[in-house]
Amino acid sequence: MEKTFIMIKPDGVRRGLMGEIIGRIERKGFRITKAILMKPNKELAEDHYIEHKEKPFFNELIEYIQAGEVMAMEVVGENVIEIMRLMIGHRDPKVASPGTIRGDFAHSLTENIIHGSDSPESAERELSLWFR
Ligand code: PPS
Repeated sequence: MEKTFIMIKPDGVRRGLMGEIIGRIERKGFRITKAILMKPNKELAEDHYIEHKEKPFFNELIEYIQAGEVMAMEVVGENVIEIMRLMIGHRDPKVASPGTIRGDFAHSLTENIIHGSDSPESAERELSLWFR
């Protein structure tokens, strides 16, 4: 069984989308094995997005992720990393397909509701960061 790190971002929590997103994860047949609702500090936010440190949108991203509570989760299932990325949809809301979480609920490139690890290496790194 594979594990991934999923985070409902501050706009997802603020807009009351936790139930909708958790429902989709559970109805797909995946199990949520850890969950915490918390406001990340700057250090955790920067560690999480460290690979994007040189990107022009880095500061905006760090500010946004600290703007409110996020729901951090460990999700377990067969091929969960790849399948969750499909369920999340493209990061650009103009490209995200209807039926995906971003396609159904996001309209902004920055405020795009949810994060999911993109590889087994990222999943391991992110899970150990958020669930020390
Ligand atoms: S890149 O440039 O292709 O490496 O970017 P990507 O891996 O797709 O995205 C990295 C994370 O940054 C978010 N992102 C942005 N935030 C703010 N503004 C802009 N323009 C922007 N572009 C990308 C994107 O949603 C990714 O966050 P996560 O949480 O991993 O989805």
